Amino acid sequence: MIQTLEWTEHGIRFLDQTKLPTEEAYVTATTAEQVADAIRTMVIRGAPAIGVAAAMGIALAARYSKAESAADLKRELDRTSDLLSKTRPTAVNLFWAIQRMKDKFERVRIRPIGQIKQDLAEEAQRMHAEDIAANQAMGHHGATLLPSSGGVLTHCNAGALATAGYGTALGVIRAAVEQGKKIHVYADETRPFLQGSRLTAWELMKDGIPATVISDSMAGAMMRQGKIGAVVVGADRVAANGDVANKIGTYSVAVLAKEHGIPFYVAAPISTVDLACPNGSKIPIEQRDVKEVSHIAGRQMVPDGVSIENPAFDVTPAKYVTAIITERGIARAPYEESLSALAGKTEVGA
Ligand code: MRU
Repeated sequence: MIQTLEWTEHGIRFLDQTKLPTEEAYVTATTAEQVADAIRTMVIRGAPAIGVAAAMGIALAARYSKAESAADLKRELDRTSDLLSKTRPTAVNLFWAIQRMKDKFERVRIRPIGQIKQDLAEEAQRMHAEDIAANQAMGHHGATLLPSSGGVLTHCNAGALATAGYGTALGVIRAAVEQGKKIHVYADETRPFLQGSRLTAWELMKDGIPATVISDSMAGAMMRQGKIGAVVVGADRVAANGDVANKIGTYSVAVLAKEHGIPFYVAAPISTVDLACPNGSKIPIEQRDVKEVSHIAGRQMVPDGVSIENPAFDVTPAKYVTAIITERGIARAPYEESLSALAGKTEVGA
């Protein structure tokens, strides 16, 4: 199994995703600042992985803190939380994870300092384990929706690399393959950061799942040729009305799928559902360095002085989403009702 990130006695060990697919390099962060840098520079990326990394970053700051009182430790951890929360704005899992660590701290703050540190480390590791379990449950629910054979299109990387393990969208595909379905994955390359060609293709190759990489502009033609039976993607934030923020280009895929009568599924854990956000227009969209668009592998591809935009995410309105697959079951329209019902459930894999 791919080890995206893990808590070790030396710090947080994670795979440097910027080096894939040609180099499988692991690094160990020993400070929360290093974790924040890794998130900002997309060494660790993908909504659930960002959340777990942030929780571990807070646990790491606690581990090395010299604070002698709970109040001093809290001040330090608030600073760490603030730093981590400014790394990337769109994936709600980041803020969910930070809040969960704050809640944990409040529940254990009366204990001796050493015990609080231990409790925070255990909470971060629990979130890691829960994320894998949630992905497996999502796989179990979602696999039934995929065709028994044929092409399934995905965009970006919503796999083991984007989570603590197994993946959301790729978890659904993995589970379908484990059930004996003969799936062939079409992976959009996902310009400009190429998560599809660099990461999704790498993961699927490792697992022996047949895959074909296509450039983003080929998706419509593949659908028209009848090669795609379903689309499944991940999400960075799902609003209460079912609007979905995911990697830039997802919206185009959803519109194309509707035109061709192809089901468009979103796989996301409940930690990605933001019921406080009424609709997609309220989701903050990260704008990244335009060099990601103007340069490919260090070579300039756009003339000097030309205006460039680089929004990292887009919003797919709920009307294009056939179903949202969560670890607690499958939500369908009207999403206001189905999502809040699932969010109210407590058990994983129900
Ligand atoms: O910018 P990234 O690579 O962090 O974007 C990742 C995505 O858009 C994923 O589809 C999303 O986080 C879901 S990951 C299970």
